[in-house]
Amino acid sequence: MIHHKQIVLTGDRPTGPLHLGHYVGSLKNRVELQQSCSQFVMIADVQALTDNYAHPDKVRAHVLEVALDYLAVGIDPTQTTVFIQSKIPALFELTLYFLNFVTWNRLKHNPTVKQEIVQKGFGESVPAGFMVYPVSQAADISAFKATLVPVGEDQLPMIEQTNELVRSFNRTYASSVLVECKALLSKVGRLPGTDGGAKMSKSLGNCIYLGDSADSVAKKVKGMYTDPGHLRVEDPGKVEGNPVFTYLDAFDPDLEGVLALKEHYARGGMGDAVVKKRLLEVLQAVLEPIRTRRADYARDPTSVMQILTEGSIRANEAASQTLIAVKQAMRLNY
Ligand code: TRP
Repeated sequence: MIHHKQIVLTGDRPTGPLHLGHYVGSLKNRVELQQSCSQFVMIADVQALTDNYAHPDKVRAHVLEVALDYLAVGIDPTQTTVFIQSKIPALFELTLYFLNFVTWNRLKHNPTVKQEIVQKGFGESVPAGFMVYPVSQAADISAFKATLVPVGEDQLPMIEQTNELVRSFNRTYASSVLVECKALLSKVGRLPGTDGGAKMSKSLGNCIYLGDSADSVAKKVKGMYTDPGHLRVEDPGKVEGNPVFTYLDAFDPDLEGVLALKEHYARGGMGDAVVKKRLLEVLQAVLEPIRTRRADYARDPTSVMQILTEGSIRANEAASQTLIAVKQAMRLNY
């Protein structure tokens, strides 16, 4: 059997700088995949506008920030095609064709979209563009014939909708143009916020950003939520659901050391400050090289934008090929 190389596509909305949650959830996987796979990473500016259409300057400014985060964590533009969504017109043509394959009712029941409508306070005034972004995301993925999509858990409904759409398109036109994909989730699960909340989220102010200064990381770690019942050092502390330990599990390479800390903490006699001190050490070791590389790239924004321009040219070629095949299947090849 011929072994086909996996094609990877994923992306982020440029609405803020990327944080440790992104790193654990997806960025780390991308850095690992880039050598063995054909990888596309997209800055989803058009999707970002679906709920930020009134703030185009914010979206525009974060395109560079997100690109800097990518380069800083080690996404290598000679191995990964990094591009800007709005520079790929084929995606929007595909979106319009794909819209025929999804019912309004199905869109209304996408759990992530439902949750976002509540979070963003849209109520009844949710823009149609926002309601259909899962279809646009299906176009993003299938335009590149992606087989693997490294994302956080909240994106699983998008992957499911993409595959439904792909099957429905192929069945309708007796075609095999589009390809189904699989989500690639992080091995260590979701990273909670520094406040102990379910996840890091810009709007909750509980994030450690990849570009944060060493001082700012130190402050955030010191202020982290732990076990509220752990009042005195000699008290036994709770490890489960304690974000300080969840972070150690995600980042500390010394597994035995973490186990020993956990046992001591649970037994009593181990203060929060000691655990936080270890966590800070571990996080600084992860973040220091990222911060340095980010600052280096940030000194030359023109070259960074040039990387995106070149990536967008390559991405445009790939997506245009799929569009031609899709139009052929839809009898639009006059
Ligand atoms: N919805 C993703 C997010 O909010 C961003 C995104 C857009 C994406 N298109 C994609 C992710 C395609 C994976 C594949 O982070």
